Amino acid sequence: MPQKIAAGNWKMNGLRAARAEAEAIAAGAPEGVVTLICPPATLLGAMPEGLTLGGQACHPAESGAHTGDLSAAMLADAGAAWCLAGHSERRTDHGETDADVAAQVSAIWTAGMAAILCIGETLEEREADRTLDVLFAQLDGALPEGATAANTVVAYEPVWAIGTGKVATPDQVDAVHDALRGRLEDRLADGGQVSLLYGGSVKAGNAAELFALDHVNGALVGGASLRAEDFLPIARALAAS
Ligand code: 13P
Repeated sequence: MPQKIAAGNWKMNGLRAARAEAEAIAAGAPEGVVTLICPPATLLGAMPEGLTLGGQACHPAESGAHTGDLSAAMLADAGAAWCLAGHSERRTDHGETDADVAAQVSAIWTAGMAAILCIGETLEEREADRTLDVLFAQLDGALPEGATAANTVVAYEPVWAIGTGKVATPDQVDAVHDALRGRLEDRLADGGQVSLLYGGSVKAGNAAELFALDHVNGALVGGASLRAEDFLPIARALAAS
């Protein structure tokens, strides 16, 4: 079975006082689920022991003259075991392409971390009936050779559902995850074991129906991961699924 993963992406939110929420998340994380938080990199070193951590993005190079950037090795050194790659906000804000994302995923693996590769279609692409074409192109272009269920998780995050309160319907998520599972099985020897996460306005109130779907192995949560009282019920719904 793919691992169950409840991942929180804090994005550009959180000062040192956020440690209290992280402590509550670490203390309340249920058995049987990888509960992980991707805080801003400034907070990685301030997070409590025992909380699984991820970075949000990295530069593909190991080190060098890249002012303001962070290497995968730096994130790992600061305590991250996972790192996001290809989040749509990075693609939009920083113009990251699939080739850029593939280089980051390789760097994440080299640093000994597992990558959470984010893919997703825009509303315009969905309305033009191009959803699966777009997702397959992102998956093929951004996932390098060498991917396994141990070093890679794929997060489906429809761009139109991120931070909008507009969650994809179970039917929409089911159709996409089913197709992604097939694509991963075709490409990877252990593609059936790769965890597939859904992200986009996941909340305690909609988590259980998403986790009931065949190929939804967890969630990548933005806004509702900032507070333990919002995030823990999602992790518990996953544990119970
Ligand atoms: P929201 O849960 O705030 O919609 O964000 C989802 C997301 O982008 C997680 O990476």
